[in-house]
Amino acid sequence: MTALRTETGAAHAAILGVGAYRPRRVVPNAEVVDAIDSSDEWIQQRSGIKTRRFAEDDETVVSMSVDASRDALAAAGIDARQIDCVIVATVSHLLQTPSAATAIAYELGTDQAAAFDISAACAGFCHGVALANDMIRAGSAGYALVIGVERLSDITDPTDRGTAFIFADGAGAVVVGPSETPGIGPVVWGSDGEHYDHIRTPDWRDILASGEKKMPCLSMKGNEVFRWASYGMAKVAQQALDRAGITADELDCFVPHQANNRITDAMARSLKLPDTVKIARDIIDAGNTSAASVPMALQRMIDDGDAKSGDTALLIAFGAGLAYAAQVVVVP
Ligand SMILES: CC(C)(COP(=O)(O)OP(=O)(O)OC[C@H]1O[C@@H](n2cnc3c(N)ncnc32)[C@H](O)[C@@H]1OP(=O)(O)O)[C@@H](O)C(=O)NCCC(=O)NCCS
Repeated sequence: MTALRTETGAAHAAILGVGAYRPRRVVPNAEVVDAIDSSDEWIQQRSGIKTRRFAEDDETVVSMSVDASRDALAAAGIDARQIDCVIVATVSHLLQTPSAATAIAYELGTDQAAAFDISAACAGFCHGVALANDMIRAGSAGYALVIGVERLSDITDPTDRGTAFIFADGAGAVVVGPSETPGIGPVVWGSDGEHYDHIRTPDWRDILASGEKKMPCLSMKGNEVFRWASYGMAKVAQQALDRAGITADELDCFVPHQANNRITDAMARSLKLPDTVKIARDIIDAGNTSAASVPMALQRMIDDGDAKSGDTALLIAFGAGLAYAAQVVVVP
């Protein structure tokens, strides 16, 4: 039998640069409360959110991704033509096909990079980092761009009490490339499809059959998701620490999906994180941006000086599916 030649890549991979795009329009709680009979106080107490950003017409999934990616490329010192693969995590690119990734790869000026979207909802960015890490080490890409991007305001019903105050818009991106030392720890990922219906959009065909002229908006069983995330995700985060050979005492930063500050608090308590660990709180003025939330929160921590080059950061993201993924990374 003829043996095929195979390739191997770099010994290790790492995140080399981080970028983010925050839409211009700041939306305070006061702007969303009337339609859901709520209050600024209730929203802050239950979620931590004070303001969020909603994209305007010209701030599209593609344009926000391109802006975030340009920042990540500049931070990494990498030219777009060096990127071999663009992975986009999103649930709010509203075309069934083609992917957002091919348009983003073209706008960025990559040299016909491989490009595709992944559907793992809020956990999509951490899935993308895991894929990129494996690609660089397997030799299928020299450099990869991983983007998390959402325009959730397009698919959020402003009159739905369970979601209207939570979801928001934005983009975050990282460049992943070869490294002398391990910069991305083993991923711990999985899915819990028993709860497939906990966060979802309706089937378009049901909307058409109902005769209503409306977007298929997100619905969420908030209580159930809250309990699942608060109790289950700390275990996943602990496994990611264990697999990277890091203890909570050795960790510098905790960057969980910005779903709800109370979920973040519950995880930090379960993990027994010491006070020295800096915890991402981007949700306060970014809301829950699903796939974009982890890279946006990481970029904020780097900009604020809370995450320094060489620090270890525990990333964990979870959401619709229910799907989850976590890994420890070294801050570029
Ligand atoms: C959405 C969420 C903040 C709701 O908080 P909660 O404490 O579970 O709220 P509940 O649905 O139990 O309702 C508690 C009370 O607040 C009221 N309430 C619900 N939504 C409200 C709102 N938007 N404003 C004001 N009051 C509200 C309810 O009517 C209820 O009142 P009652 O006690 O008089 O019956 C919370 O469930 C949550 O964060 N879930 C996880 C969401 C998440 O992380 N999603 C992202 C995963 S990707």
